[in-house]
Amino acid sequence: MTEAIMLVGGKGTRLRPLTTHTPKPMLPVAGVPFIAHQLARAAAAGVTRVVLATSYLAEVFEDHFQDGSPYGIELVYLTEKEPLGTGGAIRNAASGLTCGPDEPVLVFNGDILSGLDIASLRDGHVAAGADVTLHLTRVEDPRAFGLVPTDAHGRVLEFLEKPETPEQIVTDQINAGCYVFTRSVIDRIPAGREVSVERETFPELLETGALVRGVVDTSYWLDLGTPGAFVRGSADLVLGLVDSPAVPGPTGEALLLPGATVAPAAVLSSGTVVSEGAVVEAGAIVEGSVILPGAVIGPDAYVKDSIVGAYATVGARSSLDGAVIGDGATVESDNELPAGIRIACGVLLPVGAVRTTAGPGGCPAGETSAAVVHARSVAAR
Ligand code: GDD
Ligand code: MG
Repeated sequence: MTEAIMLVGGKGTRLRPLTTHTPKPMLPVAGVPFIAHQLARAAAAGVTRVVLATSYLAEVFEDHFQDGSPYGIELVYLTEKEPLGTGGAIRNAASGLTCGPDEPVLVFNGDILSGLDIASLRDGHVAAGADVTLHLTRVEDPRAFGLVPTDAHGRVLEFLEKPETPEQIVTDQINAGCYVFTRSVIDRIPAGREVSVERETFPELLETGALVRGVVDTSYWLDLGTPGAFVRGSADLVLGLVDSPAVPGPTGEALLLPGATVAPAAVLSSGTVVSEGAVVEAGAIVEGSVILPGAVIGPDAYVKDSIVGAYATVGARSSLDGAVIGDGATVESDNELPAGIRIACGVLLPVGAVRTTAGPGGCPAGETSAAVVHARSVAAR
């Protein structure tokens, strides 16, 4: 029996407005809440019990996963009233563990999609008699992560969270957000206050000579913390580029969930997901995107690498490239939304309001018409 702690209490600020109503780890990725993939992979590696360390929108987790029995894993919830930071959350979650002080406990950041061999990370930790073992991966630009240089034997030399100066970029090996802790090490983290495992616990363990190992595993790895990474992770699961037992259907160009409606003349590709009750109308092209429940993609719309929120609408001929549309927002026809744009929940973007090309021209009638605006500016002189 192996126990695990999953850190799912962050606010997911980089994914706003998607995380306004849904915590990041519960956002649907390839058709199911993201952590369903992590839980399924953990269960497949022999994890039988997971303590979910919740804080932001804590109730959403338990409402969905209950006691975990439908998922073949026992789930326990421990909620921080005020977020305690990653280390504080791990310490707080320890009260939900049942294992002895010498047993290994897996710890997962709740936003990592990876092909890591979890069982082998745990077994290697036990065989080495380590205090902590960290999964490391290599990335081209490590600045947004924790840098973890190791010696020739895999012993961690330093832990540099989010380096700020070029001199601090001493390696391309980063903390991949999955650890094995020997239980007694968790119990020694200070209780009842905010602690960062990255900025406080790991550096302290290294200072006191603890055996902290880093295992570089370069299989698929992605932190789903930004909109671009989020759509990519979902698409890669749908395409089968990374395995998860939780994908609800065969892998391929698109995943249609029960109750999704796609017109025969629409084209879905590159790992697109169309969720329950969502509609894609004739002539629309949807590539590598996540269409959330109840959303509508109008006729001849073009949606690429974008997330369309629950019950949001994209009007006829509108195009989205790397956009995030908040829940319930309406993008009327003939808009062109460029990469990086985020439309807030519930707002209405009128016909042709945002464009990157000239478009059909003309101004709407009424209060905001060109004539009224001109008359007001003359009157103000
Ligand atoms: N319960 C709880 N309480 N969970 C928290 C808290 C908290 O106060 N703060 C963060 N978390 C959870 C988040 O929900 C997320 O699942 C995980 O801890 C990591 O937080 P992120 O906000 O995603 O951190 P990051 O991506 O900037 O950096 C972390 O992950 C990188 C790998 O993706 C660090 O661990 C880096 O060192 C690492 O390289
Ligand atoms: Mg993260």
